[in-house]
Amino acid sequence: MKGIILAAGKGSRLYPMTRPVCKPLLPVYDKPMIYYPLAVLLQAGIRDILIIIPPGEEGPFYRLLGSGGRLGVNITYEVQEVARGIADALLIGEQFIGSDDVCLVLGDNIFYSPDFEGYLAQALRVQQGACVFGYYVDDPRAFGVVEFDAQGRAVSIEEKPRFPKSNYIVPGLYFYDNTVLDIARHLKPSARGELEITDVNLEYLRRGQLHVVRLDKDFVWLDAGTADNLLDSAQAVKRVQDETGRYIACLEEIAFERGYISRQALLRHALALDKTLYGQYLQCL
Ligand code: G1P
Repeated sequence: MKGIILAAGKGSRLYPMTRPVCKPLLPVYDKPMIYYPLAVLLQAGIRDILIIIPPGEEGPFYRLLGSGGRLGVNITYEVQEVARGIADALLIGEQFIGSDDVCLVLGDNIFYSPDFEGYLAQALRVQQGACVFGYYVDDPRAFGVVEFDAQGRAVSIEEKPRFPKSNYIVPGLYFYDNTVLDIARHLKPSARGELEITDVNLEYLRRGQLHVVRLDKDFVWLDAGTADNLLDSAQAVKRVQDETGRYIACLEEIAFERGYISRQALLRHALALDKTLYGQYLQCL
């Protein structure tokens, strides 16, 4: 399975912070935002990763992550020249995906649960079709909203509905089989001029091939796209890390635990960061 991170948003809802630095490189507490979606892919066991970035940002991304060798994975980059919607990431990544399945994750979404790998395993077990998640929020109007029937099966999905049919939103983590390429090629832009990921999910729903896994109440999902959300996200990350003593999105830890890098390499990374709690955490693994 291939992994794509869509990290091409201009971040105009975060101006002026995102004038000199693009949104995915802003800090969420102690790490750049891009670490969080990247950790999701690593936790899913995905090692071939495409990051879709805004124009002119190759330098900073490359300085931060390079080609992934430091983490034992392969990272390549593509530029999204014009923001044409989330589903456009699938078209940009068409060659990269080839004949594989793909996991797409949004560059400003943060996921945390002690059982996250269990959820990922459920999604990875789906052989045919698509798997997305359903997450309860108080106000779902800014998101893709999924409605369930009495048996818990998804029956509708609507993008940013004025009158949501449920409180379950679809967070930015999508698992698709290879037919997604054909679906993406046939999409038409929505009223807001975007290729909507909700339309991709709707097509799978029509085909009877959309699996929606509901996330538990204690699952933490954050979308760090506005100043308030960014602050809330940073505070949530700090709280979880302080309470559990475990780091969220610790890429080096995940890479080491999965056997992508040796203990020696882990210690090298730890020493390079030894002025930080993050580096000290790595040294104790
Ligand atoms: C996008 C998707 C929406 C999804 C959300 C998750 O919203 O269109 O379906 O629920 O990401 O963050 P947007 O970022 O376009 O507001």
